[in-house]
Amino acid sequence: MNKKRSFFVTAIFISAVLVQTSNAQPLYREMYRPQVHFSPKEKWMNDPNGMVYHNGVYHLFYQHYPDSTVWGPMHWAHATSRDLVHWQHEPIALYPDSLGYIFSGSAVVDVNNTSGFGKDGKVPMVAIFTHHDPKGEKNGSDVFQNQSIAYSLDEGKTWTKYAGNPVLKNPGIRDFRDPKVSWYEDGKKWIMTLATLDHITFYSSKDLKGWVKESEFGKEAGAHGGVWECPDLFTLDDNGKKVWVLIVNLNPGGPNGGSATQYFLGNFDGKTFTASHADTRWLDYGPDEYAGITWANTGNRKIFLGWMSNWQYANVVPTKTWRNAMTIPRDLKLKHAGDKIIIASQPVPELSAIQSKPIVVQNVNVTRPVDLASKTGKITFPCRLNLALVEVKDLSLAIANDAGEEVVIGYDKKQNQYFIDRSRSGRSDFQKDFASRHIAPRFSDKGKMDLSLVIDVSSVELFADDGSTVMTEIFFPNKPYSKIRLQSTDNAVIKKLEYISFKSIWK
Ligand code: FRU
Repeated sequence: MNKKRSFFVTAIFISAVLVQTSNAQPLYREMYRPQVHFSPKEKWMNDPNGMVYHNGVYHLFYQHYPDSTVWGPMHWAHATSRDLVHWQHEPIALYPDSLGYIFSGSAVVDVNNTSGFGKDGKVPMVAIFTHHDPKGEKNGSDVFQNQSIAYSLDEGKTWTKYAGNPVLKNPGIRDFRDPKVSWYEDGKKWIMTLATLDHITFYSSKDLKGWVKESEFGKEAGAHGGVWECPDLFTLDDNGKKVWVLIVNLNPGGPNGGSATQYFLGNFDGKTFTASHADTRWLDYGPDEYAGITWANTGNRKIFLGWMSNWQYANVVPTKTWRNAMTIPRDLKLKHAGDKIIIASQPVPELSAIQSKPIVVQNVNVTRPVDLASKTGKITFPCRLNLALVEVKDLSLAIANDAGEEVVIGYDKKQNQYFIDRSRSGRSDFQKDFASRHIAPRFSDKGKMDLSLVIDVSSVELFADDGSTVMTEIFFPNKPYSKIRLQSTDNAVIKKLEYISFKSIWK
């Protein structure tokens, strides 16, 4: 090649590389990529699985299909964190095999080595999951979902499936899945809480390998607009009294359409769960928290995490290289509201690691629309907003861009409801019901009101009245949101407003 020609070829090569680099979006900087929420590096994600805290590490396994951005043969992917905020991706933990795909389930730390999987003093982590046989499903069998186990002796890095799988065979119920296992100290046995179509079936075991049926719950209780999935069973403290909580995810049939998480409070005696209320309760009223359950092995603290999407559109949302994220981890507590005891959720305090010092503004009168930046200086996303009012008044807060797109979050006094309206939030052409307004009851009967919002680039989580009402919503503006506008038709004054910017968890 002569000199001139070689110069020419090199120039073309360099400009091609430059064009490519400028077009490619850096990892975790892509359009719509959550900055303070966990999302997979690439490809498909749904339910959180096997969440367990062990030796200072929070393990998060999740439903994953590594070959596509739409749902397919399920694997358990794995991520770890020391602070519930920053996550490290680990190698895939469980691959599909001859018994089927690896559907949702849980993990326990078998401290007493009841399973016998422990070796040389190493405590086994045991995963309990559903084997879903797609061939059986296709052939019209009713017994294609069965429960299996696997163990790890190296902190969840590598897993060995038990040779005797499945450990719990399907008695003939098509939807027979998502085992959540926990240690029942009073009876010195493991309890498996299993979703079985339209109710929960409890099983018990001494060694995680042999399971005996204990009881059923729920055919006539709670919401039944769809199939019961992904349950959880644990206790929360009510002024020194132990209250049992049964979480049951439901799809479809949620309060705002599609997938959602309901819960029951009551008692569990080692055999039977009895609910203490007849009304239906939702942990999150928004459309975009699903399959939510809690971390195992965290002592008295109960930390909840949900998948931040809805089966109505999870497969078609307009993200390119990955699909879906998790909610912010939330601490669950019992709270008295009026004559009810309810579960309240709060973003975990560990978020302070990525929060800036709050900018505090007092007495913001929003009778006329107020552009928040005029009070706090430049608004950037992701961010957190805390609003406190000493009165209960109509209020709305719009997260907006200059293309006229917005998500409006607020409180409607006449209806005594919180709402999130994403009908003009941006892209919604992928599903007919996406562009809509969603509502949630206010439980607090106090004469004051507080709202805390975790706002990421494509989601908002509302925690109202100390977390008594929670709503999660995702959105996809054509241009990133850049401002926040506050308004009230009822002369509301925000007594105290805190604006906090978040650092990305991926930097
Ligand atoms: C819930 C769910 C589970 C199932 C998994 C399959 O979202 O349908 O019931 O185990 O997803 O990916």
